[in-house]
Amino acid sequence: DKGYYKEVKEHLFKILVIGELGTGKTSFIKRYVHSFFSQHYRATIGVDFALKVINWDENTLIRLQLWDIAGQERFGNMTRVYYKEAVGAFLVFDVSRPPTFEAILKWKHDLDTKVCLPDGSPIPCLLLANKCDMPKEGAANSADTLDKFCEENGFCGWYYTSAKDNVNVDESAKYLVAKILQRQ
Ligand code: GTP
Ligand code: MG
Repeated sequence: DKGYYKEVKEHLFKILVIGELGTGKTSFIKRYVHSFFSQHYRATIGVDFALKVINWDENTLIRLQLWDIAGQERFGNMTRVYYKEAVGAFLVFDVSRPPTFEAILKWKHDLDTKVCLPDGSPIPCLLLANKCDMPKEGAANSADTLDKFCEENGFCGWYYTSAKDNVNVDESAKYLVAKILQRQ
């Protein structure tokens, strides 16, 4: 009978979702976890949580604990507390609003100065160019520019996403989880 029961490996990963106000962080999580979208905007206050369970493969179960951090928290002094022990992050901007792109490096700096992996390296961070269903402005128009930006600033990659139209939501999550698993 030996070998009949498979060892299932379980992981719990804390993932941050950060970026400016109204870029779609909460919407991305709601789409990913609850297959739901609303046009109605209600700003997150402080932090919200969601859990997504992934049957990664027949031997691996992953629990993603998603920390949905309010955009306005960049101006607060709680991010160090929220970031603690995170192993990955989505950094979200809105392709239709260039100022949300310009703030990315402030968020990335905040992240990298306040959290790192146990070996001291930065946590994997994936850039999400969200609201790709809308007209793109500025840097968001150019895939080459975004490639170069990610390479120069320590992002593990980027995706055009739409929480509204469900574009690349599962794909980007899968990509980040794969990066995190590589570091385990
Ligand atoms: P804060 O909690 O204030 O930091 O904002 P947030 O980043 O959580 O943004 P939220 O998800 O609340 O979305 C803000 C607004 O953008 C809402 O009206 C959403 O309906 C809208 N929105 C979010 N994602 C998309 C998208 O992919 N496409 C379009 N067209 N609208 C979106
Ligand atoms: Mg929110």
